[in-house]
Formats: sequence, structure tokens, C-alpha cells
Amino acid sequence: MKRLTLLIFRLWPANCSHSAKLRQARLCALLIAIFTLVLFPGASAQKFEKLAQTPPMGWNSWNKFGCDVSEKLIMEVADAMMNTGMADAGYEYIVIDDCWQVDRDGNGEIIVDKERFPHGIKYLADYIHSKGLKFGIYSCAGTKTCQGRPGGRGYEFQDARTYARWGVDYLKYDWCYATTQNAEASYTLMRDALYKAGRPIVFSLCEWGTAKPWEWAGKVGHLWRTTGDIVDRWDAMTDIFDKQKDLVKYAGPGQWNDPDMLEVGNGGMTTEEYKTHFSLWCMLASPLMAGNDLRDMTKETLEILTNEEMIAVNQDTLGKQAFCARDNGDYEIWIKKLAGDEKAVCLLNRSDETKSVEVNLPALLKATDNYWSTDPYKPEDYTVRDIWEHKDVKTSGTMISVTLPPHSVKVYRFEKK
Ligand code: GLA
Repeated sequence: MKRLTLLIFRLWPANCSHSAKLRQARLCALLIAIFTLVLFPGASAQKFEKLAQTPPMGWNSWNKFGCDVSEKLIMEVADAMMNTGMADAGYEYIVIDDCWQVDRDGNGEIIVDKERFPHGIKYLADYIHSKGLKFGIYSCAGTKTCQGRPGGRGYEFQDARTYARWGVDYLKYDWCYATTQNAEASYTLMRDALYKAGRPIVFSLCEWGTAKPWEWAGKVGHLWRTTGDIVDRWDAMTDIFDKQKDLVKYAGPGQWNDPDMLEVGNGGMTTEEYKTHFSLWCMLASPLMAGNDLRDMTKETLEILTNEEMIAVNQDTLGKQAFCARDNGDYEIWIKKLAGDEKAVCLLNRSDETKSVEVNLPALLKATDNYWSTDPYKPEDYTVRDIWEHKDVKTSGTMISVTLPPHSVKVYRFEKK
């Protein structure tokens, strides 16, 4: 408004006093703004910028607890987030997934399950905020959620106001019971509703990739699911991983491909496989939403989830997703370009056999430069760091020999000296 007023002021024919001219310019700017809003109601709507500049990190109830959510559970998980070192490692959002809601009242207001959440949602949000954490909730673009609870369709603006009042910081918005709805239009409507409600909320689209959200959702939300639901099994996890290969160019600060929440620690994979799962998600610049019971973690699970060097790769400020530099079937090499001309390289053994490989380090560096067309590499400028061993690799010459157990990874960071 101020800029528009100034512009009009400058262009206004100067045949009156300065203050009269300013009044007229202000009135004119106001009229233009009103007309614009009436003629193009969506013109001022947008997503909240500056959120999720690195992939969101947190915890979500669905993978472990399904519909068995309650105030007690969520508060205990928030406590565990603080006590275990997860919060220190960067996890901040505590998200209640489906099943917190039961109905709508006569005014359309959403009704919370009183037995499971006796003090209501705002109470819970306040508790989470008091720990310095952030609070997320779940709803759905269709008429019902995937578990048959009331969905958001037709109540977008009302629900967005409610979420803002409760202190919600993150909304996961699902795609069940959406029948013939247009995905882009439905999610854009909720984006506008959130924006209008005025509280900055990370908007997580859960449309499962059916309408190719990577092509349009950068303007709508901060992350979008690219596939159906993850299952806590090696083949299901790698199947989802494979589907991210062609989506490299769509990821960046404030807009992330989401291959679904983590299964680390839920019991369906071996420790080695969970290490691989976590490493791949970090390489992909995926959101890191833990999906296990934070109150009851093994030492191994906690070590995986809080590997700070691996998390630093995920949270790198450049926001690049890794690309597949070599695909030999059972053996793959993935490279993620990092800020300051650094790189993370992940060697992946997908097979059921141990593999021994000879790795040519300068060739790996060069592969990145070819892909992103950056400055020519200089191997002597880098130290090679093993991210899971937490130590520098002693390189004699340019080759290193690596032994990879079945279903495992080696992740190196090429650090600028
Ligand atoms: C869908 C989503 C899951 C979860 C459930 C809840 O399946 O993809 O992540 O939110 O709904 O019902």
C-alpha cells in the first residue's frame, strides 16, 4: 500500500497542496487495492515463505501408534524428544496424525476426542511450545480423513482459523475421500485459508504423488509426499527410495520431496538397514520425521537418529537432493552437493551379498561437477570424512577399497580443507 501510494503521489498532477495531494493518492491506492481484491480474490494469497528452509525435522505419531493417540502419549513423546538428545540433534515438530478428531458441532467447528485429549488441543500445543518445540496436526482435503474422521472439505477457512488459535505450526493434509476433487485446487484453497488465518504454518501435502505435486506444489506448500505409505520393510523402503530418482530438480529451500516418515526403530528392519534408510533419506534432503516410540529406543536407534554428521548433510543450506551418479543394479553411488563446494557421497549395496569395491575419489568429485556444472574439481582441496565411522579416511593415492555388508551404505563427506 505504501509503495502504491508513493507511486500515485509521484504521478499525480500537482495542482493542489502537498497534504491534499497525499490524501488523494492514499484514497486512490486504497480503491485500487479493494478492486484488485474483489476482482482477483487469490491475488494476495500465497504460502508462508521463509519456512522449512531446510527439510523439516520432527516426530509423527502414525507409523508406530496409528489411531492410538492421546494427550498423555504426545506429552510423553515431547518429554522424550527433550531428554534423549533428539531435540538437540535438530528435531523440533511433534505432529499428531489421524484420529484426534471425532465430529463437527452445529457451527461446523471440529470436535476433539475428549476422552483421549481431555484438555483440548490448545493445552497440548502450549505444553509443546513450553519445551521450545513446535506443534503439528493432521487433517485431510477430502470429506473424511483416511480413518473416516471429519475431513477439511468445505471447512478450510474455519479450520485454518481454529489451527491458528490453537497455535499449530505444521499441518499435514491428506488426500482420502477426495473423489473427483482437483488436487492442485484443493491444496491451494487450504494454502489460502492458512495464509488468511495469519499464523505461519508449515504446509505438508500428503497427496501420495498421484497428481505429480512436485510440478505445482512449490507454490502451495513446503513439502509433498511423492508416493504411497511407507512400510517397515527393506523392499518397501527401497521401492520408495527408487521413486525419488527423477525428482532431484524439484527440491530446494522451502519445498521438499517427501518420501514419507522414518521407520527407524520400529522393528521391521535390521540395524544395518535402518542405518541405510536414514542415510538415504538424509541424502535425498527429505524431511526427517521420526516415526518410532521416542520413549523407548535402543542405543542403536538413538545413535542412528542423532548422527549429527549425517543430519548436517540433510540440513545443508544449499538444499540439493542427491542424484544417482552410478547405477550398477545392486550397487549404486549417490552424490549430494553441499554448500561451500562440499559433497556427500553415498555408496549403496542393495544386494544380499557383501561387496568389495574400489572407489576412485577424484572420479566421484568430477561426477558431481559434471552433474551440477560447477567449477572444476581439485582433489587436493578436500579431506574425505567417513560419516558413520566419524573419522577422516586415510587415502594413499586416489583409490580406496571399501567392503560393504549386505543392505548397507558408506557415506563420505568431501570437506574443503
Ligand atoms: C494416509 C497417509 C498416512 C497417514 C494415514 C492416516 O494413509 O498417507 O501417512 O497419515 O493416512 O490415516
